[in-house]
Amino acid sequence: MCGIVAYIGQRQAYPVILKGLKRLEYRGYDSAGVAILNNGLRVYKKKGKVAELEDWLTGMDMHGHAGIGHTRWATHGEPNDRNAHPHTSGDQQLAIVHNGIIENYAQLKKELVKQGHQFNGETDTEVLIHFIEEIKKQNQCTTEEAVRIALKRVVGAYVIVILDAGHPDTLIAARKGSPLVIGIGKGEHFLASDASPIVEYTKEVVFVNDYEMAIIKADELILKNSSNEVQTPYIQKLDIELAAIEKGGFDHFMLKEIFEQPQTIFDSLRGRLDAGQGSVILGGLREYTGVFKEAQRIMIVACGTSWHAGLVAEYMIEDLTRIPVEVEYASEFRYRNPVVNEGDIIIAISQSGETADTLVAMESAKEKGAVIFGICNVVGSSISRTSHAGVFTHAGPEIGVASTKAFTAQLAVLCLMALKIGYEKDSIERKRYLQLLHELELVPEKVEEALKLNDRIKEIAEKYKDARDFLYLGRGYNFPVALEGALKLKEISYIHAEGYPAAEMKHGPIALVDESLPVVFIATRDAYYEKILSNIQEVKARKGKVIAVVTQGDKNIPPLADDIIEVPEADELIAPMINVIPLQLLAYHVGVLKGYDVDKPRNLAKSVTVE
Ligand code: AGP
Repeated sequence: MCGIVAYIGQRQAYPVILKGLKRLEYRGYDSAGVAILNNGLRVYKKKGKVAELEDWLTGMDMHGHAGIGHTRWATHGEPNDRNAHPHTSGDQQLAIVHNGIIENYAQLKKELVKQGHQFNGETDTEVLIHFIEEIKKQNQCTTEEAVRIALKRVVGAYVIVILDAGHPDTLIAARKGSPLVIGIGKGEHFLASDASPIVEYTKEVVFVNDYEMAIIKADELILKNSSNEVQTPYIQKLDIELAAIEKGGFDHFMLKEIFEQPQTIFDSLRGRLDAGQGSVILGGLREYTGVFKEAQRIMIVACGTSWHAGLVAEYMIEDLTRIPVEVEYASEFRYRNPVVNEGDIIIAISQSGETADTLVAMESAKEKGAVIFGICNVVGSSISRTSHAGVFTHAGPEIGVASTKAFTAQLAVLCLMALKIGYEKDSIERKRYLQLLHELELVPEKVEEALKLNDRIKEIAEKYKDARDFLYLGRGYNFPVALEGALKLKEISYIHAEGYPAAEMKHGPIALVDESLPVVFIATRDAYYEKILSNIQEVKARKGKVIAVVTQGDKNIPPLADDIIEVPEADELIAPMINVIPLQLLAYHVGVLKGYDVDKPRNLAKSVTVE
């Protein structure tokens, strides 16, 4: 939810931190701030994006070789200067940046106020740094020891990095439930919420584990567990390139990521699919194939776009394996006391691998004896590390807040899983199995074909950008695609949009239909085609505007529709990966035409790490 960057070493800390915060703004951009150690602690923070902080600090003396920075997505206290991070202790000796939530901060604050502490803002983070200060004073201990004691008392999720004016050569960091990566340089260390601010300096990183603390000097990294025992850091090599993080000539990350999909779908299948051999190789599934074969039930937990991928997976897995599948909003699953039996399988789907609702849902199922299988896009993420096994989607860093390439990569991987399990269970005819493997192999080039619709979609966006509402309708495998298209539009253009099963329209939503309502039908040729044709006629009869995504060469729908979008033919089980492309482009162009920041839409953040 928030972005953290910190540095200690021979470089000037401020430029490293500033550039890093810009790479993390997709995690939240309500306010930004830095603290630098240079003859004492100097803290600069303000409401607004990182660029506004940068303008404000132009010309200031920002020298210093140790610093911390933060870009915020507000959870406690509204976005303003006072609530911006970093926060300082009452004696101005300590500064902290924090990503996460301290659930019991109100109780701690009450105690601290009684002890004379005064607070400038309303955040839980400010309470935490005062709490550490108070423990330090009462116990006459080091900052490190005070942090350790404090973290045993706090309830919640956190990544914190602390500057201590009394020890200008040291950073202290700790993690529970939110992500923290440490980049290992030569005589320098970089800390960040993910690898994107680090990769241009070093590819050697340590993913800090929950309950671990790091004491970091320019040339020394000490990692300790909650029992204060030194741990050996597990250094990994990053496999992402800086270019993958830059915009690559596109106007926005979102458009770049939409156009990356032929490659990213190919990457998600690479080394895993050989249609000629009729083979699917999924390393993460290897030891669990038997568990899946015996499973009586699969539950999928996810949020947002990943939840839509779960809905498509429900249709695929039930179709190919005959195992009952339930798809649940992770946030609902977590709190409704679900029935989870030993041997049930939970598939947790998440691009960021840090979504708190999904993380806590899988943790609660794990406690009840379920097998947890993670589908994530970020190596080292909390959800991937909490899973018993899983498959990475390999879509590369997804910077745009609206998920696009991660969605199609999730569908590709889930399709592979359904095929693999169906084959192992012998619940799928060999002929269909081979046909679907071949179709899957053709998806990248069909997506390439669908991307050629970009200019056509821009024209459609121009025509409908001022509509107040949109309806998206689809049947079968295209129903989740309708939901996804509606989510894309609303989160990028702020236009109200709803996705519905097309048949459900007559049970209420059809009352919305009039000449001002654009209705997007995903009406490619499949088992439901004749039915959806009738739904289109029902809308036309009420003067609704019909935008129809149809299979190339369709002759029946064009005479009925106001606008036609022709996509390549594909098996209905494969089609969602292709049919979603024009809907992504439609949302993108409407958002741009309305003048919005499509990479960082208002109120949203890329990774929702609070429940
Ligand atoms: C999708 O465009 C949204 N950004 C959002 O719904 C997102 O899919 C959801 O927050 C889940 O994120 P995750 O896949 O990282 O868990």
